[in-house]
Amino acid sequence: MEQIKKKLTIPDFFIMKENGKKFTMVTAYDYAMAVQVNKTEIEMILVGDSAAMVMLGYQSTLPIDLDTMIILAKAVVRGAPNTFIVGDLPFLSYEISVEKAIENAGRLIKEAEIDCVKLEGGTRIADTVAAIVKAGIPVMGHIGLTPQSISQLGGFRVQGKNLFAAEKLLEDALALEEAGASSIVLEGMPNPVAQVITETLKIPTVGIGAGPFCDAQVLVIHDLLGLFDRFVPKFVKKYAHIGQDIYKALSDFDKEVKTGVFPDLERSYNLKEDIEKEIIRHLKKVK
Ligand code: KIV
Repeated sequence: MEQIKKKLTIPDFFIMKENGKKFTMVTAYDYAMAVQVNKTEIEMILVGDSAAMVMLGYQSTLPIDLDTMIILAKAVVRGAPNTFIVGDLPFLSYEISVEKAIENAGRLIKEAEIDCVKLEGGTRIADTVAAIVKAGIPVMGHIGLTPQSISQLGGFRVQGKNLFAAEKLLEDALALEEAGASSIVLEGMPNPVAQVITETLKIPTVGIGAGPFCDAQVLVIHDLLGLFDRFVPKFVKKYAHIGQDIYKALSDFDKEVKTGVFPDLERSYNLKEDIEKEIIRHLKKVK
């Protein structure tokens, strides 16, 4: 029988970092995937704005809006009651003013009942993070390759590759910790930079394309399951090839429908022979 895991809380993640125990986060955007993640020992789900790309087919994460994020997050919460759930605040939902940021973070927490919100940026948004935390909403930071800023970054590029850029990342991480963030995603940066940030901070770091020294790791579920092939970043490991399985299943279904193999009598509602005859006789008279 499957063991039902206990849902962890922010203090549990702090203790795990202190004890050198790694934890795992994966994205999910719908009920069915959330149910599967909830069955595993994975501690955290991120309802990421990567949904814009892997669920909705956009070229970047920018087009998704807060109302859509709330719908997706609600479905995930229903599917994963034993998993800590983080939700992304989408592009322009927290940049306009601090008041708007608190209001939108509050909507994600109140309407979707997730556990924590995630925002992209370092020193630039530290005041906003502090205000959201002061309002009682837990925040996960996100620095390095921040997909909401791809135009400024010149594309999906590794960050922190020179002295100045690496120092800026450390400064960003410290500003977020100081502002009250309870964890930080480190995306797309060299291993040593992520390692120094992880060793410097008291709060846990969650790496993606940031090497093995972070306190936790996250991957986009479509990438790790082999469900998104438009591009595959260097750091992704495919643990399955579900896309190929789906293609085969759909092609088999199509073939069986067209050759009359599906549905067979086993998968149909049948009647006792005498009732069947009577009904057919009656229906033929009616027409
Ligand atoms: O939206 C997302 O999936 C993310 C991860 C890449 C960390 O922010």
